[in-house]
Amino acid sequence: MNKQREHYRIAIDGPAASGKSTVSRQVAQQLKFVYVDSGALYRGMTWKAVREGVDVKDAAAVIDLMDRSTWDFLVEDLILKFTIDGVDPTDHLRSEPVRERVADIAVIQEVRAFMVARLQETAAFGDIVMEGRDIGSVVFPDALFKYYLDADPEERARRRHKELLATEGRGDVKEVLTSLTRRDQIDRTRKTAPLQIPLGARVINTTGLAIDQVVQRIVDEVNAHRNSSA
Ligand code: CDP
Repeated sequence: MNKQREHYRIAIDGPAASGKSTVSRQVAQQLKFVYVDSGALYRGMTWKAVREGVDVKDAAAVIDLMDRSTWDFLVEDLILKFTIDGVDPTDHLRSEPVRERVADIAVIQEVRAFMVARLQETAAFGDIVMEGRDIGSVVFPDALFKYYLDADPEERARRRHKELLATEGRGDVKEVLTSLTRRDQIDRTRKTAPLQIPLGARVINTTGLAIDQVVQRIVDEVNAHRNSSA
């Protein structure tokens, strides 16, 4: 039997609109690794709760709904996709009801345990780039590559506002800042797996940096490692 090398895991954590998603997607594309957006799972659970009329602050009801739903995962064009009870929630994950409730769903310990287990199972899909809040600290603490992306709150609000204008054609930058700050606060202060700089993560402040520069730095570091261990 051939001796197989260990799969690469690149963990990219950071607060909302720190550049994680764009950077992670591009790094995955360039390296031909599978891209995993862990936030999509928490958003998926939130979408399901909203759709079923379950109050996200009612942990018992959310857990019951989670236990009754079936999640299936697949990789399409090197991107992790999933369905909940056979429905692909992708188009709804960034909607207003979901983004205003997702941080409340993500504090529920049982929800986190479920999502962490699903995320760890994705390692079976091969080399992966996973972005989130607790990837380098909880999901893959032994990942060879860990990054923590950050940016000033005003810069993050400007970026998210720009995205909202593109997707929804509206948005107020002050409201976006308030919403991001609220979500950051919940994410940073929750008891289980709060947003933090994982041990051993390289911190990159992306304020004023071009996305390409950040992507290139990560790709170069991974390639240097691949070449040295080939
Ligand atoms: O794109 P953005 O950073 O705004 O959000 P996201 O990555 O889709 O995550 C949405 C929310 O899910 C976060 O605000 C967290 O409350 C939660 N989340 C988490 O708790 N742990 C993760 N690994 C990923 C997301």
